[in-house]
Amino acid sequence: MKALVLAGGHGTRLRPFSHSTPKQLVPVANRPVLFHALDALRAAGVTRACVIVAGHGRPIREAVGDGSDFGMAVEFLSQDAPRGLAHCVLLARPFLGDDDFVMYLGDNVFAEGIAPHLTAFRADSPAAQLVVSKVEDPSQYGIAELDAAGRVTALWEKPADPRGDMAVTGAYVFTSAIHEAVAAIGPSARGELEITDAIQWLVGRGHTVRARPYTGYWKDTGTLADLLDCNRALLEGLESRVRGSVDAGSRLSGPVTVEEGAVVRRSHVEGPAVIGAGALVEDSHVAPYTAVGPGCRLRGAGVGDSILMTGASVEGVRHVRGSIIGKSGEVRRGPQLGAPHRLLIGDDSRIEITA
Ligand code: TTP
Repeated sequence: MKALVLAGGHGTRLRPFSHSTPKQLVPVANRPVLFHALDALRAAGVTRACVIVAGHGRPIREAVGDGSDFGMAVEFLSQDAPRGLAHCVLLARPFLGDDDFVMYLGDNVFAEGIAPHLTAFRADSPAAQLVVSKVEDPSQYGIAELDAAGRVTALWEKPADPRGDMAVTGAYVFTSAIHEAVAAIGPSARGELEITDAIQWLVGRGHTVRARPYTGYWKDTGTLADLLDCNRALLEGLESRVRGSVDAGSRLSGPVTVEEGAVVRRSHVEGPAVIGAGALVEDSHVAPYTAVGPGCRLRGAGVGDSILMTGASVEGVRHVRGSIIGKSGEVRRGPQLGAPHRLLIGDDSRIEITA
């Protein structure tokens, strides 16, 4: 089966990181969200994928390459503007032909993969199949109404007055019937070709659309809080592995991965935590659920429940919690106690200070 992976869009809710990096390349558990998606597709047996990128999409093209690192053949299509998920299906028609395919939103994480869903699709042969998940706040999602047999009877996009709590997640399996549907619908009030409208079109014409609940951890990494939540969930599955160097004065407890070239000195690393390739952790405490990216520097630092992207550093500052520090971002102690805070903050950043 082929895959259509959507990695365009605005990513407005992931600012400031999405200013410089497409949101699908923001790392969780030290691996870009999009890479987790490609891993999940490969594990489900997919060997050909088309990735939709915004504009030239160079960072994504460079990061993914020809797909061989993921064991699949990947090609790219650029979308001039985020015209909707159904627009991506229209755009990819030459790649998709009349084959069945899985459409996967490149900012979604399915921690246990999606293989059973593709197996079920092959066994049941519906026109389309959705993966759904119970949510607390249905008004923020596309919501599917199901009958007792798991068939979709209606769909609503972000309903103001929700009639169910099963959200449509970012993995869909389609037959070629979807092409007639996306060609038939018009733009929604927000000006996008909505995939929910195309699926509703199928339902309305008597096609069988099935929905299967996701039993594992699923997250649409729309917001910064979602990223941290996802980071915690993915670090849960971490294996203990030391490829870098850890001196005798250091202690690793719980599952900790220390990547190649990383150096840990006189520090305590409490897992689950990952220390990226070439990172330095010195006289520091790394508390659980922390992903320290490649080339980061922690000196006299205390960091927990956080994501540090490539080359970030924390020096002389303790109690950093629930934080995301972008590429080469620096957090350091001022010259003396009581000195004024000196800040150099990029666009759309957020700092919380307890004096
Ligand atoms: P969304 O999260 O719905 O949209 P967005 O990326 O514009 O985000 P924000 O609301 O923060 O501005 O997109 C889901 C996924 O699909 C995401 O990986 C981006 C991708 N996408 C496209 O590739 N093309 C599109 O036209 C749209 C709407 C989304």
